[in-house]
Amino acid sequence: AKATIIVDKDYRIASVDKNIYGSFIEHLGRAVYSGIYEPGHPNADEQGFRTDVLELVQELGVKIVRYPGGNFVSGYNWVDGIGPKDQRKRRLELSWKSIETNEFGIDEFVDWCRKAQTEVMAAVNLGTGTPQEAGNLVEYCNHPSGSYWSDLRIKYGHQKPHNIKVWCLGNEMDGPWQICHLEADDYGKKARETAKIMKWIDPDLKLVVAGSSGPGMPTFPEWDRTVLEYTYEQADFISLHRYYENLGDNDDFLASYIDMDRFIRSVAATADYVKAKVRSKKTMMLSFDEWNVWYMKQVKLQPWEQAPAILEDRYSLLDALVVGGMLITLINNADRVQMAALAQLVNVIAPIFTEKGGRVLRQTTFYPFAMAAHYGMGTVLHPLIRGDQQGTKSYDAAPLVHSATVYNEEKAELTVFVLNRSKEPLHLDLDFRSFGKLSFLEHQILDGPDLNACNDFEHPDRVKPRQVTPKDAAASSFAVHLSAYSWNMLRFR
Ligand code: AHR
Repeated sequence: AKATIIVDKDYRIASVDKNIYGSFIEHLGRAVYSGIYEPGHPNADEQGFRTDVLELVQELGVKIVRYPGGNFVSGYNWVDGIGPKDQRKRRLELSWKSIETNEFGIDEFVDWCRKAQTEVMAAVNLGTGTPQEAGNLVEYCNHPSGSYWSDLRIKYGHQKPHNIKVWCLGNEMDGPWQICHLEADDYGKKARETAKIMKWIDPDLKLVVAGSSGPGMPTFPEWDRTVLEYTYEQADFISLHRYYENLGDNDDFLASYIDMDRFIRSVAATADYVKAKVRSKKTMMLSFDEWNVWYMKQVKLQPWEQAPAILEDRYSLLDALVVGGMLITLINNADRVQMAALAQLVNVIAPIFTEKGGRVLRQTTFYPFAMAAHYGMGTVLHPLIRGDQQGTKSYDAAPLVHSATVYNEEKAELTVFVLNRSKEPLHLDLDFRSFGKLSFLEHQILDGPDLNACNDFEHPDRVKPRQVTPKDAAASSFAVHLSAYSWNMLRFR
């Protein structure tokens, strides 16, 4: 198989917003308890945060973390999670049928994010929660002092405001599974009134209105149109959620990014229709704040355990290639997708996996995310791709290579991410005609003989990228060999 990618400095799509490299921690399974927080663990710090996990979160390069849900948030009373820990209430948590001890709440999460060097994307409860309670949470977190809620934060040990600027207005409110699910008109009105209260308290907030839980929802895209008509003035983003799983056809699964791209374009088109209808000058941005591979059919809830081991998917090389393909799609949509979250971060459908009381592991999906988060910053250039194409069961013929190119002007570095979804090795010609001569710095390759291979505690490095040091002289075009079924990062300066 063969392909050519032509990259030109002038074919700019947009600058990458660092927040597309976000992730997600929900009070679900072992994401918080024995994931990021485990007092008594040999690596726990004075606040009970696992430093081995903190190190990997930084290595992953996560820029913003969504919290506390997810489905969890729609039944959560945030006040349960503040104040002296010995007085916090144990609750029945209805979305995942678990016992929530509330040992960890918003103050702990903000402290954890500071240590992880990441920002906070908080969510308010628009299921059982009221607009007033959402406003109280913003006052608690962001108001400097001199009011009931801000003084309570100070009393509980945080003199300085948390200054959380990004907030989700509920979660998946279109889904019948959601605690206190709403119809689109009802959610639209509730989200708008909540947004008004939140922005009156802190006008600098960026608010994410809950879009459809996926393109397969019967109410998509009417839901998105309706809620945007109510909230267009107050909202800054609309959310998208989408998970993929292998239904037994590897080639079809590998092409999942095509569906993700279509979903993004449909939501952008819907938002642009509303923009025209409400005569707005503002363009609505997209927050793809739940995306991943998730083997949903395997979910078996275990009521009423504390931090049960649920949704602990173990990812294969193939899953990592699919995640890599989706990262490329997010980058190529940088003009509209300005925030995103790989769902989730630790233990629960996550790139980082822990043993309770023990070790921590990088899953296969850790690697494409880390490479993109570290090197995928700058201006996205539109790659012109020519070459062999292939269709799959669900998708029409499309190039066998899927690619995003990012030019970091400050460092004068060009990074090319390429997925080769062909079962054959591929000969790739890269044509950087407008760049003059470039040096080929490195080629990182994620591939392997067994697409089903996973990392585990006995073989933590079974799947990891290998590096090839190129020997090419400086040039404006390069010929590169891509192995079969591989995800590649190529860097030039
Ligand atoms: O990420 C797991 C769950 O998936 C989230 O709680 C929910 O928002 C989505 O359905």
